Amino acid sequence: MTSWRPARTSTAIALFLALLVSLLIPAQSVSGHAYLDESSPDAGDIVEDVPDEVRLWFTEPLEPDHSFIILYDATGEEIDEVESRIDPDDQFQMYTPLPDDLPNGTYTVQWRNISAADGHSESGFFSFTIGSREDMTEPVSPDEDVTTGNPGLIEPLSKWLSFIGITTAVGTVFAWLWVIRPTMMDHSQYVLQVARRRARNLALVGLGIAVLGSVLALVAQTIIVTLGLTIQDVTDTLFGTQYGLFWGLRILQFAMLGAILYSGALWRQTRVRRTGWLALGIALLALLPFSMSSHAAAVSIGTNVAIINDWLHLAATAVWIGGLIALFGAAILPTRSLEPEERQRVLADLIPRFSTMAIASVVVLTLSGIYSAWLQVGSISAMQETEYGRTLSLKLLISLPLFLLGGLNLMVISPWMKRAAQAGKHFGRTVAAEIALGAAVLGVVAVLVSMAPARDTLESQAERTNFRFEHMDLTVATYISPGAVGQNNYTVDVIPDGGELPEDTSVELRLGREALLGGTRQIELERLPEGDRGRSVRFAENGSDLSIPGTWDMEIVIQRTNEVDWRIDRSFEVPEVPAQDQVPGPPPRLEGLQSVGAPIGIALAVVFGAVAARHRFRTEPDRILGWLALMFLVFAALTTWQTLVETTPTTQARNPILSTPQSIETGRELYLEHCAVCHGPEGEGDGEDIDRLERPPADLTGPHVEIHTDGDIYWWIMDGIDPAMPGFESELSDEDAWHLVNYIRSLRE
Ligand code: HEC
Repeated sequence: MTSWRPARTSTAIALFLALLVSLLIPAQSVSGHAYLDESSPDAGDIVEDVPDEVRLWFTEPLEPDHSFIILYDATGEEIDEVESRIDPDDQFQMYTPLPDDLPNGTYTVQWRNISAADGHSESGFFSFTIGSREDMTEPVSPDEDVTTGNPGLIEPLSKWLSFIGITTAVGTVFAWLWVIRPTMMDHSQYVLQVARRRARNLALVGLGIAVLGSVLALVAQTIIVTLGLTIQDVTDTLFGTQYGLFWGLRILQFAMLGAILYSGALWRQTRVRRTGWLALGIALLALLPFSMSSHAAAVSIGTNVAIINDWLHLAATAVWIGGLIALFGAAILPTRSLEPEERQRVLADLIPRFSTMAIASVVVLTLSGIYSAWLQVGSISAMQETEYGRTLSLKLLISLPLFLLGGLNLMVISPWMKRAAQAGKHFGRTVAAEIALGAAVLGVVAVLVSMAPARDTLESQAERTNFRFEHMDLTVATYISPGAVGQNNYTVDVIPDGGELPEDTSVELRLGREALLGGTRQIELERLPEGDRGRSVRFAENGSDLSIPGTWDMEIVIQRTNEVDWRIDRSFEVPEVPAQDQVPGPPPRLEGLQSVGAPIGIALAVVFGAVAARHRFRTEPDRILGWLALMFLVFAALTTWQTLVETTPTTQARNPILSTPQSIETGRELYLEHCAVCHGPEGEGDGEDIDRLERPPADLTGPHVEIHTDGDIYWWIMDGIDPAMPGFESELSDEDAWHLVNYIRSLRE
């Protein structure tokens, strides 16, 4: 007893450390890239004198060492004096001072960055002109190879190896503890020895492959970060970036797993004991960083559930596919040295044990897969119309025979084996085929995880009928809404670079389809009365000219007296259904840390249920397990009900108004006028009218606001919250409501 307690404590400490490392690894390593937010001078600007500097604002903090600016003059010659720097007070800004003797002309700024948040790289370029309109020339297009490091196939390959490796290591631990060891112990001592050696080697080889995958991932990241691959580049990436730090932690985690797999303790024990649980815990934790840097982690609401769901999906894959590898390598192959009858007995014992584990995995795999698909794809049409959706379909297509083979093993070959010895040969073959298919599925997954999810693609497509052109002296924004077959509204906003737009300016939209007989439709847009649009002048018209789906050509022609015509053309896709309507509705999302109880409860219910059903609930322990399964199910249902985030019809709507200081100020004024009586001057829910209300007004600075989208807040402002808060639809314009949303969001900061 005396040695028992310290051992238990050290197990707990080891698991805690492993958890800590898992949680640390992907710290903020999710989300997008550091995109260019704005710049000074801005794209297309004409500045009279040489500016002091070129300054760029990005959406994420930058790695100082590998982000840079290159400046080209009108002839494409690089300006040597440029020195890229990250603003010491604000890591989101990069700038370069300019020599003050730059001649007049059009300059092109090429930039590239590495996000300090997630190690992703972005690059781009834009032009501005020094002098006057006369100095403006066609801008040069810089060579994009200078700024984009492309690791090619190394990236998916590294992911594939990591998946296969970690799956094998984790699956072998599970299969050893619950399938191979208990079976072999009941049979031959000799086979037990062989199986033990092989299982240990398999797990270690798997881990080795995962390490190899990680090394390749570091190579890929080095190419992305430094655009090169010298020893110096690798050490720069490893020691000079956040990614390098996370990479080191991940290797540390692999080392922990390696130590426990290497030591004999796990493999020698006769019952699942401390080392067994410790190995399981560390193995499962080793999967967590994968999920924490997956698409699931980029989900904005219900992130915890999405991550745990992804992790369960991965764990079930590991138990099934990795378990099959262990079953084949460490159990089926060694039994070949046995007499046929003996072998038949071993296999007839082995297979039902494995089946229980496989069935539980497949159910968890299916349920978590459905939820992930709902999160990332959302609808059947999104499945067909996006690259992500089609790749996911391919994954399902390959998985289908995998499921079928599993079923064949369970329903046909396994009962047959109880009767005939030669069935073992078929069993070995089908398992080998399953493993091959499993590896193929993981290959597709490796590609899938580097793609933009279907929802993101559809959302960006929904904005594709909005165009912005900067050409000659005009900035022109064009909206075709809804941008689908049928009645559309065409709007063109014209902003002159300086001065006023002449009264007699005409704007014409020409729409045509190559294949369409009858030629182009010419639509004369009507100038709308001046509104609150600054220097921008709006022209608009309605029409049902887009008559069939497909690619259409659009030309915008702006005519002013004494000026050459302003023309620009562009092709765009016209879908049958408005792109906005193709964005699938939001999936049910759960919020808060306690919400992870839902997926975990369901998974445990499945596992206990599968074990209980093994003997059709005939024994007492099995009946207890059955009740436990039911309990977990009820627990999952309660958690779901408690943590489900309510949605509104506009949950998915995007805030069309940028959260600029002006917008927040406009929002603040509207807030003081309409909302402060209830919500209080500072939004803390302490307005003067609160005594007259049935329910206390929400504290708008509290965390509750955070879990709702801009679209939800917009809906409540316009529609009200029955019965506590009135709707403001009749008093506020659409735009006002969005300014208010921006203001409410700013309260939290
Ligand atoms: C008559 C009093 C009253 C006025 C005026 C009012 N609200 Fe509310 N508001 C409430 C109450 C009460 C709630 C809490 C509703 C509940 O608990 O279901 C609420 C809830 C909200 C919420 C939801 C917060 C959350 O996290 O659930 C938002 C957002 C909000 N109000 C914004 C506004 C804005 C913006 C205005 C001004 C345009 C406004 N409210 C005006 C009484 C008011």
